[in-house]
Amino acid sequence: MADGFAGFEFTPEVEAQTRPLWEKVKARVTPLEWRLQAPLIAAINRLKAEKNAVILAHNYMTPEIFHGVGDYVGDSLGLAREAARCDAKIIVQAGVHFMAETSKILAPDKTVLIPDLLAGCSLASSITGADVRLIKQRYPGIPVVTYVNTTAEVKAETDICCTSANAVQVVEHVAREWGVDRVILIPDEFLARNVARQTDIKIIAWAGRCEVHERFTAADILELKAAYPDAQILAHPECPAEVLEVSDFAGSTAAMSDFVMTRKPKQVVLITECSMADNVACDAPETEFVRPCNLCPHMKRISLENIYETLLHDRYEVTVATDMADRARLAVQRMIDMPPLAIPARYDLVKARHHVDVELI
Ligand code: 13P
Ligand code: SF4
Repeated sequence: MADGFAGFEFTPEVEAQTRPLWEKVKARVTPLEWRLQAPLIAAINRLKAEKNAVILAHNYMTPEIFHGVGDYVGDSLGLAREAARCDAKIIVQAGVHFMAETSKILAPDKTVLIPDLLAGCSLASSITGADVRLIKQRYPGIPVVTYVNTTAEVKAETDICCTSANAVQVVEHVAREWGVDRVILIPDEFLARNVARQTDIKIIAWAGRCEVHERFTAADILELKAAYPDAQILAHPECPAEVLEVSDFAGSTAAMSDFVMTRKPKQVVLITECSMADNVACDAPETEFVRPCNLCPHMKRISLENIYETLLHDRYEVTVATDMADRARLAVQRMIDMPPLAIPARYDLVKARHHVDVELI
């Protein structure tokens, strides 16, 4: 723990205040860690109330953040919806920069803060607004669907956004509305390839990758299956299509969590970022988690320490130029306004075994 936090003590008051949270996370956090974390959790929760702030925490935050200080937790779609409807004065984004920009786009009158401005994303940095303008020139009349893992500048050039939870539905919706049989789906090549296997709409894709999910291979999954034959293997659609083909289920982080909470498998493997399993495990003590995972270095820039500093000093504010925000909002709002999915979207793995290619730009 940073020296600046040496004054935070694990007093009997802090111990009593944070006991319910400890009960929740104790399977994943050691008592020694908790003695350091609990005083900060108590201080953050006090500051939130004083400043009328909420913390929107992504599923990839570590358990002390996710369970300890997150007011709203979930996948990218859930957090965007919450930014639009919450009535706090300040939103602290416990996630990466594109998520904070999405919150600002949807809640322009609120102050949106991120604990570390360098919390980026390999997908968001794979494409620029200028790239999208060139794509539109090359494919006139074809709608542009952009994954929310993009900058505001890119969203401003977009017809509609999607997340991993609703990408198939958004692609089919926009193709129907525009009366076309081809859709541009950028920038995640693997998400695009996985969507292409779920729909008859032809997909034009960009070669962006999530540096966390691209590292999983089909061989990893087959090895896991051999070692843990009874485990259910759940993969994120940012993984290569070959990984999804040999997994038991694929869906957004919220869909994976929903799978574990409702189906209560005895043993499960989550093919995604490491903290996801820790967070779900705190809520699903009856399930055993096998834990091969990859860390997202961007998500891991967010800590209790910098969340506390963020609230204390109102930093670092994320802003989006008004004109750009107005254009980007149309694309995000069109997605938010789509009818909610009855169940978190999941990829039909039976259909997915039929290989369909995409046109790579
Ligand atoms: P979801 O939580 O929307 O599934 O996205 C995963 C991700 O990689 C976010 O950065
Ligand atoms: Fe970006 Fe992948 Fe990290 Fe999500 S997990 S923030 S998609 S690099």
